[in-house]
Amino acid sequence: MNISISEQKLFELATKARNNAYAPYSHFAVGAAIESENQNFYVGCNVENLSYPVGTCAEAGAIAAMIAGGDKQICRILILADGKELIAPCGACLQRIKEFADDSTIVLLANPQGIQKQFTIAELLPFGFTNSE
Ligand code: THU
Repeated sequence: MNISISEQKLFELATKARNNAYAPYSHFAVGAAIESENQNFYVGCNVENLSYPVGTCAEAGAIAAMIAGGDKQICRILILADGKELIAPCGACLQRIKEFADDSTIVLLANPQGIQKQFTIAELLPFGFTNSE
């Protein structure tokens, strides 16, 4: 896969974030990195808790960092893990991404060997929750 400089940067940032993941219960470390519409970069990792449901996904951490940093629009988000299968964002995280995405928002799926797949959020969540009013 031919990757751009910002995709390479997302991959490196997610790798570093993943190295800091706190996953003593699942032993499954995940890193995420976002490039916002304003070309700012934000990272997150999963943070588990002894009270299992309280744990948070890497994507949630990266989105929280983006909001705290003052950005509201995701241009690209990369998720990185090292499993038997390539991981995609869980259903809840697809909805979290959708909140700050538009039709062109890219979701990059990676393992330690590199970026393996690219989707738009609309491909991964074609009929997500939009408006209750
Ligand atoms: N996890 C993420 O961080 N992102 C996902 O999209 C899927 C799952 C985390 C949650 C938990 O800490 C570990 O991976 C195992 O499920």
